[in-house]
Amino acid sequence: MPVVSHLFEPIKLRDLVIRNRAWVSPMCQYSATDGVPDDWHLVHLGQFATGGAGLIISEATAVVPEGRISPQDTGLWNDEQVAAWRRINDFLHAQGAATGVQLAHAGRKASTSAPWEGGQTVPASEGGWETVSSTANAFGNNAAPRALTEAEVAELPAQFAAAARRAEQAGFDVVELHFAHGYLAHQFYSPLVNDRTDRYGGDFDNRVRVLLEITDAVREAWPADRPLFARISATDWVEGGWTGEDSVRLSRLLAERGVDLVDASTGGAVPKAEIPISAGYQVRFARQVRTGADVPTAAVGLITSPEQAEEIVASGSADAVLLGRELLRDPHWPLRAADRLHADNIWPKQYERARRI
Ligand SMILES: Cc1cc2nc3c(=O)[nH]c(=O)nc-3n(C[C@H](O)[C@H](O)[C@H](O)COP(=O)(O)O)c2cc1C
Repeated sequence: MPVVSHLFEPIKLRDLVIRNRAWVSPMCQYSATDGVPDDWHLVHLGQFATGGAGLIISEATAVVPEGRISPQDTGLWNDEQVAAWRRINDFLHAQGAATGVQLAHAGRKASTSAPWEGGQTVPASEGGWETVSSTANAFGNNAAPRALTEAEVAELPAQFAAAARRAEQAGFDVVELHFAHGYLAHQFYSPLVNDRTDRYGGDFDNRVRVLLEITDAVREAWPADRPLFARISATDWVEGGWTGEDSVRLSRLLAERGVDLVDASTGGAVPKAEIPISAGYQVRFARQVRTGADVPTAAVGLITSPEQAEEIVASGSADAVLLGRELLRDPHWPLRAADRLHADNIWPKQYERARRI
């Protein structure tokens, strides 16, 4: 039978079958208490599951408290957080969605207020903390971080691995390593940020070393039958910064270590970058990594119409698309998209009477 819609064709990664390729991009909600997701997260993520998304990747979730972007970020460093995520995962699974968690450490971009409160550094007197990084230089107007010692850098893989073990207990199907957007891992591989002179700084191999060590530790801790993703910033969009070619090289190394899919985003290392924002502006990096490193990819960034999403998958630019803001506007986007693309009916029976084709 001919494939009607590539977007709604299931995909298998390791032992996980995901019902379609329209996925939810991780989106911080800045709404947790002590790292514990609550009813907001259940309803927010739940609407994407009833809305037909194939995979729902939960927001940047800190592996240690000081890795949170804001004091209200979610985490996976204790059992209370595991139990809260478990409840959410159970609901999403009951609706047929696969679930992922994005494991993160914000480094010098940590300890800031929510965007709607200005996104500035939160002082210790108001619940903030000293941030750490590859460097002692600040990001923009944020407070300056403390540069991690070599011994402290070597502890990061175990922190990510412990969170991956908790992600398994919480019932997630996928772990995504957050290596993008100027957060801690990116603070190591971007030559614009990393000014170290030890084995974690200098040439390409040294700058990606900690990423590979984190990947090895997580792959070891995370069940062999479950997929591991990595989100990277495929370019810094700055002369002299990280490039698409660097991303191909890194992705090959990640794939060799058991990363099953590279999620190709961009930017975030430094405040001053000329980003040519337009429809699907990052798709070409998903394509470059997919063809150059021979690894499955997901494309993200201003993907908003079913036809655009279908074309990205059908043309081989990416194996799946991740939608962010469009799904906040319309959490049921996949239901409508399936009808527009003449895929099988995926509407929940409870909503059948609202279906118009
Ligand atoms: C409210 C909000 C929160 C976000 N939080 C995260 C996050 O936790 N991790 C991440 O990698 N990207 C985050 N992003 C970026 C999105 O995942 C996505 O890459 C970006 O919005 C571009 O896709 P879009 O044009 O479909 O929104 C966030 C975006 C928004 C709008």
